Amino acid sequence: MTPGATLAVPSGAARPRLTFLGTGYLGATYAVCFAELGYEVLGYDVDAPKIAKLTGGEVPFHEPGLDEMLRKNLAAGRLKFTTSIEEAAAFGDIHFICVGTPQRADSMAADLSHVEDVVVRLAPHLHRKALIAGKSTVPVGTAEWVEQLVRRHAPAGSHVEVAWSPEFLQEGHAVEDVLRPNRVIFGVRSEWANDMLFAAHKGVFDLATTEDREVPVVITNFATAELVKVAANAFLATKISFINAMAEICEPAGADVTQLARAIGYDARIGNRFLRAGVGFGGGCLPKDIRAFQARAQELGVGEALRFLHEVDLINQRRRQWVVQLAAELLGRPFGPAGPDLSGVKVAVLGATFKPNSDDVRDSPALSVVRKLSRSGAEVSVYDPEGMENARREVPDATYARSVVEAVTGADLVCVLTEWEEFRTADPVVLADLVAGKVVIDGRNCLDPVLWRRAGWEYRGMGR
Ligand code: UGA
Repeated sequence: MTPGATLAVPSGAARPRLTFLGTGYLGATYAVCFAELGYEVLGYDVDAPKIAKLTGGEVPFHEPGLDEMLRKNLAAGRLKFTTSIEEAAAFGDIHFICVGTPQRADSMAADLSHVEDVVVRLAPHLHRKALIAGKSTVPVGTAEWVEQLVRRHAPAGSHVEVAWSPEFLQEGHAVEDVLRPNRVIFGVRSEWANDMLFAAHKGVFDLATTEDREVPVVITNFATAELVKVAANAFLATKISFINAMAEICEPAGADVTQLARAIGYDARIGNRFLRAGVGFGGGCLPKDIRAFQARAQELGVGEALRFLHEVDLINQRRRQWVVQLAAELLGRPFGPAGPDLSGVKVAVLGATFKPNSDDVRDSPALSVVRKLSRSGAEVSVYDPEGMENARREVPDATYARSVVEAVTGADLVCVLTEWEEFRTADPVVLADLVAGKVVIDGRNCLDPVLWRRAGWEYRGMGR
C-alpha cells in the first residue's frame, strides 16, 4: 500500500475489526491486548464456560497483567466474547486462528482437527471479503490447506483470503510479547492481505514509534512464515538441551554448568539467554513442536535433516529421570531392576507448572518427576503457587499441600522443580527446622548453594 493511502476495510469500519478464534493462552491474550491497542475485537470459542468467564472479566488462566486489561477493555466496549460463529463471521474483517495444535495421540505429528473445525465452521458464514490469518503453530503446508478449505466452504469464495502470521509469546510474559513483539511475520499471497495485516498491526507499530523503537517486519510466503515459528522453537529447545548435555558432562567431571554457561554466553555469537541448565523444557509448545517438526520433515522426505531433534528430546527426557536417580543416590536407596526404590521416602516437590508465572502444567518437567517419584514408591507432597488446580487434574493421586511449609514438613528430601520467586527466596534456616532430612535437589539451579549449605543442607544442583 502506498504511504498515505487508506485501505478500504470490508466492514466499512475505520480500522479492521478483529476476531480471535480460540480463547486459550494465545487467543485470549491477543484479543485483550489488541483491544488495548484500540481495535474492536471479538473473541470466539466453542467452550461456553470459558467465554462466560471472559465476558465476566475473569481470565481463565494465570497471566500477569491480563486480568486488569481484560476488565478495562470490556468496560470500554471494545472487547466482546461469543460462542456464536455466525456473529464472529459477521463482525470480523480479519479472523485470527488461535486454536491449539497439540500432539496427536497416535504419533508425533500435530493434531490439526481444531484448525479444520474452526475454519469449516466459520467459512460458510463468510459472505463478504475477509482475511483469515493463522497464528497457531502448524506444520508447513497448513496455510495452503486452509485456503482450499475456505474455497470449498465460503460463499464469498476467493474474496476470502488466507495469510499466516505466527506468534512468539512466552507464557508469563505474554502481554509484553504481544504489545511489544521483537518481530512480526506476514506470510501472504497478495498485496491486499499484506495491507490488511499492516492495518491490523498499526497499533503495535504506533506504540513502538512513541517509544522510539522499531518492530521489524518480515514479509514472506506461507511456507516460510509457518517454518519461522517451528524453526525458532526448535532452536530454543536445542539451546536448552545443549546446555543440559553439558550439565551431564559437568556432573562426573566436577565442573559447574552455571559458570560454563555464563562463560560461553559472553561470546555474542552464542549469547547467554536460554542456557539455564535444569530439569529441561516443558509446556504446551517446545516439546510437541519439535516432535511435530520431525514428523513433518519425514513426510517431506527430509527426516534426516531433523534427526538431531530426536536427540534434543532424549536429552530433555533424561533430565527428568536424573532427578529420581539423584534422589536415590542422596538418600542411599538401592537400585532394583525396575529403577530406584524410594519406598517409604517422603519427598516435597516445590513447583508443578512448566515454568514460573504461569498455571500451565502441560508436559511439565516438575509433574513428570512427581509421577516418576511416586512410581518409585516415594510419598510425594506437591506445592505450587498457581498451578495446583491444573496439577490436581493432571496427577490426581499425588498429595497436594497448601503451602511450602506444609509440603516440606517431615520430608526426607526437598526438590525445587520450578523456579518460582517464593521458592528462590525461601529461608533455608526456617525450612531446616521443618524437614526430617536436610537434603535438597535444586532442579532449576535457582537457589544459592552457599546459603543452603550454611544452613546445614546437603545441596545438589543440576550439572554443578
Ligand atoms: C515458547 C517460546 O519461548 C515462545 O517464543 C513461543 O512463542 C512459545 O513457546 C509458543 O510456541 O507459543 P513458552 O512455552 O511460554 O514459550 O516457554 P519458554 O519460556 O520458552 O520455556 C519453555 C521451557 O523451557 C520451560 O519449561 C522453561 O523452564 C525451560 N527453559 C527455558 C529451560 O529449561 N532453560 C532455559 O534456559 C530456558
